[in-house]
Amino acid sequence: MKTLTETQIREACRPDSSERGQIRSAQPELSLDEIIAEVETCSQLPMGESQTLPPQAYTSETYFNWEVDHVFKNDWFCLAHISQIPTIGDFLNVEAFGEPLIIIHDKDNEIQVLSRVCPHRAMDIMPPGLGYDGHTLATPSDEHPACGNTRFLLCPYHFWTFELDGALKACAEMGQAEGFKREDWSLKSFCTEVWNGFIFVNLDGQAPRSVAEQYAVLNEELEPWDLANMKLVAANEWDCNFNWKVLAENFMESYHHAGAHSKTLQTMMPARDTWTEGEKPFHIRCHLPMKQSLRDEIHQLESEGKDWESFPAIPGLSDEQRMEWGLVMGFPLFTFVTTADSFIWYRILPMGPDRLKLLTTILVPSTSTQLPDFEKRRAESNQAGIDFHLEDMEVCMAVQRGLYTSGYQRGRLSHLEMPVWLIQRFLAARARDTWPTFDRPAAPGQQTS
Ligand code: FES
Ligand SMILES: [Fe+2]
Repeated sequence: MKTLTETQIREACRPDSSERGQIRSAQPELSLDEIIAEVETCSQLPMGESQTLPPQAYTSETYFNWEVDHVFKNDWFCLAHISQIPTIGDFLNVEAFGEPLIIIHDKDNEIQVLSRVCPHRAMDIMPPGLGYDGHTLATPSDEHPACGNTRFLLCPYHFWTFELDGALKACAEMGQAEGFKREDWSLKSFCTEVWNGFIFVNLDGQAPRSVAEQYAVLNEELEPWDLANMKLVAANEWDCNFNWKVLAENFMESYHHAGAHSKTLQTMMPARDTWTEGEKPFHIRCHLPMKQSLRDEIHQLESEGKDWESFPAIPGLSDEQRMEWGLVMGFPLFTFVTTADSFIWYRILPMGPDRLKLLTTILVPSTSTQLPDFEKRRAESNQAGIDFHLEDMEVCMAVQRGLYTSGYQRGRLSHLEMPVWLIQRFLAARARDTWPTFDRPAAPGQQTS
């Protein structure tokens, strides 16, 4: 199959791409309650009888809005890694669920997630397009001119200035405003928690537990990667014209290695060997073992003291951890891959039923960044990531188009697609205002080792 180029894919995904405007769903409209009921029905099917969700779950504005309030805003959402804003004054901006946010390293060495909306007359203090709309590394560069470092925050409208923690520092000509006290007028601050170096926000402040509690099991499993001390060394931003579940399902199931990645990932980690752990309340975890002939080659290279990935293997990983990719979706949407030499984090930001902004990143231990040929290794690792991501982009775009058509049929799932079914069960649990396994027995895993 001829694959689309990066330029073609980026063009097709542009938010104002004319192709998007022509799509009208040929499927009947379902109410919010009807969609939620269908998701619940899917979640009650045993794995062996499982099927895909109704198309409206991927196309309905109403259902998307329900997800924003009941799945995303009331839970912890990962926005950045600490290595993106390592020093005091570093910041980066992001729009999340309609909120313009600034993630900033304040003078007390705390990380703040603040609203960028000025408490004077609602101006965005760093409007996109005016030079601060970046999402990646804090150090400005030609590639990412937007993020930066600042001593204070200035609203460009009437020049109110704020401290790095959002407190109002100065505002001219307010002396005649009766009862006006500066301390009453800070930038709004959202609940924030840094877990293993990753910066999470809870937009409605109602999350019932901390990130550390929620991901306690992952904490132990990820320990050898020492995430807090890793460095984000690559970040690519993608506009995507598909539903967040199209991407999340694609990210988590590896059945498609056999098709979409037949020349890339399938040659290393064949679809048939991939497997999923038993159901957990707060995450899904899958294992993608490398095929035996590749393991033999790797062991040979290791015995000769040679690197076999772009970067040296991370010390302290077990043989099993080095010889597989681990896929995780921390609920609601903390998605990443563990590999022998890196940690690949995808920040998936849902923007609408058929739109999301994606940041694909690579993190490596800081020792890897000090290698003399680091830049060459970084470029090689980044290009490999882009190559297989383009294969995913192509199928996700085509799937979303299919979901609008009259030809769409609800499909049946392979056992290799257990994560798709587990995502359905997660969504159904959130509609019951609980989490998987809290009110129903946990589904067993596909392998116990
Ligand atoms: S709106 Fe920000 S200073 Fe007036
Ligand atoms: Fe894929």
